[in-house]
Amino acid sequence: MHIYYDNDSEPLGAGSYGRVYAARVGNGPGAMNMALKRVRTVRLPEEPSMHPLLCHETCALVLLQGHPGIPRIYAFGSSQYYEYLAMQRLESDLYSYFVSPGGHQLTLDGLASIAHQMLDVLEHVHKKGIVHCDISLSNMMFGQPGTRDSSATQIYLIDFGFCMSYVNPSTGRHKPDSGIPRLRGHRHTSSLNIHLHHSPSRRDDLESLAYALLWLLRGSLPWQILRTTAEVYQSKRSWSGAALCHGWPAAFGNFLEYCRAMKYEETPQYDYWKRIFADMTRGQGSTSSVQRSDDPRTNVGLVRGGQPVKLSPAGSASYPRSVSWPCFTSIYDDYGPFNNPCSWESVWSIPQEDLLAVPREEDVILQYPGLQKLASLPTPAREFLSSDNDPEVLMELA
Ligand SMILES: Nc1ncnc2c1ncn2[C@@H]1O[C@H](COP(=O)(O)OP(=O)(O)O)[C@@H](O)[C@H]1O
Ligand SMILES: [Mg+2]
Repeated sequence: MHIYYDNDSEPLGAGSYGRVYAARVGNGPGAMNMALKRVRTVRLPEEPSMHPLLCHETCALVLLQGHPGIPRIYAFGSSQYYEYLAMQRLESDLYSYFVSPGGHQLTLDGLASIAHQMLDVLEHVHKKGIVHCDISLSNMMFGQPGTRDSSATQIYLIDFGFCMSYVNPSTGRHKPDSGIPRLRGHRHTSSLNIHLHHSPSRRDDLESLAYALLWLLRGSLPWQILRTTAEVYQSKRSWSGAALCHGWPAAFGNFLEYCRAMKYEETPQYDYWKRIFADMTRGQGSTSSVQRSDDPRTNVGLVRGGQPVKLSPAGSASYPRSVSWPCFTSIYDDYGPFNNPCSWESVWSIPQEDLLAVPREEDVILQYPGLQKLASLPTPAREFLSSDNDPEVLMELA
């Protein structure tokens, strides 16, 4: 598979550690559109590649393939400087679509459908032993309109770079709460327990989802303008669910309170909450999908009475079997962005015990028949490495 990508224009998106480019396989009318996520793995050209964050994300996506809310993956490969993952091209993340200036309308039906779909995909992720750890509006995306099996209203969960296992692979039991050295995920949507450095577990993904939903419901969160993590924490804990959704349907505030009260190892009641959100739309005749409108509004919030459309039957699909649970060790146990001594993207690492893979990562990746190893380096529209660096070469997985 040879991939071309356009790094000359704006990427489709850029987050804390990756850049995602519009890419295609082949040329001409038969070309297949994809998204190419590229993550830098070394601080300096002479360093060995040692922060396999995208490989970690790819391993998680291998385990999770088959759910309608998980993007399909096509190819993975790494060079001495970067890792590359070719995946299904999606359209817009929910932050850009609804919250950014000029954002679009969202109906109450649409919001309830987002809640329902995200609960379903999180249930799938959690059943595979993974917690996402970075649930936010910029990590939820719409599919591309008119594509084969994803309607424009399917919501996808992306960005598994910081995910981790909450299950001990040898015992099959929940890992103990051993704490984390620093905040994991985005401070605007991270749970109160993550602020307090507890290990992430299923409850934290749900609490982050609750903040994301409240953000869409209200159009803003009270702490989004605060600058330090400590200020955000103080503000967040001072707001109850009821106060946050005052004047709006109580279910969203109740959901937040439920998440906050959950115990560390508790299994969330996905079905109960999916039913609550589905019922919110039934008052209008049927469950509905996300209502998208091309009518831009500067102030996001809900417009009631959107036309009900049929919701894709989330949770009813049967998923293909994916590979069994892996575990991987690395000599690097630090994480967080390193100082950036040159103009490249910053390099992130995560703790060794959180990396997913069997002793050799390629075993996980190559076990999944849908995923190819990149046969050649993706061809960028413009060279991005300086002439002092070695030419970039695709490497065998070590
Ligand atoms: N498959 C995709 N198709 C189109 N755009 C994408 C895709 N994946 C990610 N993006 C865009 O790129 C942004 C960053 O991607 P993400 O995987 O979240 O990287 P990071 O880990 O750096 O946050 C997303 O918020 C989204 O806007
Ligand atoms: Mg992201």
